[in-house]
Amino acid sequence: MCGIFGYIGFQKATPLLVNGLRKLEYRGYDSAGICLLEPNKLKTIKAKGRVGELARKVDNEILPATIGISHTRWATHGEPSERNAHPHLDCQEKIAVVHNGIIENYQALKKLLEKEGHCFLSDTDTEVVSHLIEKFCLNNNFEEAVLKTLALLEGAWGLAILKAGENKIIAAKKGSPLILGIGNNEMFLASDASAILEHTKKVVYFNDGEMVVIDQKGFLTKMANGDIVKKEIQELKWDVGQIEKAGFKHFMLKEIFEQPQAIANTLRGRITDNEVKLSIDIDPASIKRIIMVACGTSFYSGLIGKHLFEKICRLPVEVEYASEFRYRDPIINNNDLAIAISQSGETADTLAALNEAKRKGAKTLGIINVVGSTISREVDSGIYLHAGPEIGVASTKAFTCQITALVLLALYLQQEKNAQIDKNIIKELKLIPEKIQQVLNQAELVKALANFIKNSSNALFLGRGFSYPVALEGALKLKEISYIHAEGYPAAEMKHGPIALVDENMPVVFIATNDQTYEKILSNMQEIKARNGKILAIVNPGDIRASQLANWTIETPKTIDLLSPIVNVIPLQLLAYYVADAKGIDVDKPRNLAKSVTVE
Ligand code: M6R
Repeated sequence: MCGIFGYIGFQKATPLLVNGLRKLEYRGYDSAGICLLEPNKLKTIKAKGRVGELARKVDNEILPATIGISHTRWATHGEPSERNAHPHLDCQEKIAVVHNGIIENYQALKKLLEKEGHCFLSDTDTEVVSHLIEKFCLNNNFEEAVLKTLALLEGAWGLAILKAGENKIIAAKKGSPLILGIGNNEMFLASDASAILEHTKKVVYFNDGEMVVIDQKGFLTKMANGDIVKKEIQELKWDVGQIEKAGFKHFMLKEIFEQPQAIANTLRGRITDNEVKLSIDIDPASIKRIIMVACGTSFYSGLIGKHLFEKICRLPVEVEYASEFRYRDPIINNNDLAIAISQSGETADTLAALNEAKRKGAKTLGIINVVGSTISREVDSGIYLHAGPEIGVASTKAFTCQITALVLLALYLQQEKNAQIDKNIIKELKLIPEKIQQVLNQAELVKALANFIKNSSNALFLGRGFSYPVALEGALKLKEISYIHAEGYPAAEMKHGPIALVDENMPVVFIATNDQTYEKILSNMQEIKARNGKILAIVNPGDIRASQLANWTIETPKTIDLLSPIVNVIPLQLLAYYVADAKGIDVDKPRNLAKSVTVE
């Protein structure tokens, strides 16, 4: 949700800033802008729309500056426009601010500043920050002025700030991600590691409440009271190849195809034939209930997790939309384990829900992909997915790796509590990467079937048991990237209302593989067929009965019920991808969305 990139060093800053923004564009693409430090003044260039628009503008200028900050925006306050694009300046145009997050008390601050004579040019919450720094710079140095400003702000921020005449960037973090890359006589500041990786693997992560002053040679981190904080330099584990498209048309397609490897990575070193090894700092015997908090696709993997934990460990589980959880005063006990599931590890709602559970005494665990992300540093224990960077806005490999990690955790709790483990699950788990590959080999078939759906206005996705969350995920994938209205339902719920929607124009996708709900699903398929709905069924090889009811089928290899979501979601991801691509939509950057949602 908004991307920030900053550079201070000896190279020309502009191409580095534009390139950094391109890497962060998945976080938002409503507008983009840069600000460069020129001798005693600032040079700002902004454009509405994608980073490409900004690049076209800067190409026409000779810009020798070696210090600059930049921003790609996902609009929260104020429409997407050049006027609302960051950086935002003060009245004198001496201070420039880029911001990721929300200043919740900006209206009160703006009123105050306007009374004092400050003129605002945008509708954003961010602009108060540059005017506050301007105000405090009258009697303080740059650094003190920033500290005084931060003390007045409420909300969330990743900030990067320039001041004319000062050869430094000041940055600050609270609730939004910020990472510093350390090069040789140059520094890179970014919202996430994907923008830094090609320059350096040496990074520093910041904690909430910290402010950092960066110059070409070094950096100094301080707390709000001015106390200096000692920071550890860490090594990034990703390599550059992982953040390129590697010949695929879109990141989403690449990430779908990476799933066999990604899942193998999630499993690596964590299972033998009869043991699960996780380094978790929580006593399994003390856990009496699990509460999972997550959003979007990660929430659906939590729904599958509920089935898993109940089946494997016989533990009660609640799965909550993180955005709802903390507003209803949930009842939490010391024996609860709160699990935050998040690809990015930065989702504001998930972070807030996790903190609420923690505050009320729950132990916490994260299932996270991005190493060093905010949630990963807030939890007592964690399981990293090791899925590699997920750049496409539509989450794919994170989903299947999250389920894999949840299976590992459920088996681990079973093993630690009962001193035994279900070896059949382990055996089947090891076969999953190969089974996914078998589905991927049918991509051309799915592409052909996408033609039957691409002109529909609506679609239904139906499943039961373990396949119900898969239906939800299939519908989410289709709607978010193809803009076709799609709903996921438990198949048996259709007859309680939604079946009224079904006619010959309604494609209905059934997950009808041969699990314990198979007979029931067949009846639900009959109900749709009787109303002329067009059925696409996901079936196991050799299936006859579901296939006879369907207009089209895609086969997925048989596995045990509790692992079937990992295999059965693959054709639904491919279907959404090929429908969206056939409609000419920019699959990696669908309208109105951002990869990392760092606002509540
Ligand atoms: O990074 P997270 O897993 O916390 O993100 C949660 C959701 O924002 C995310 O899954 C979103 O729903 C995706 N667009 C789904 O494809």
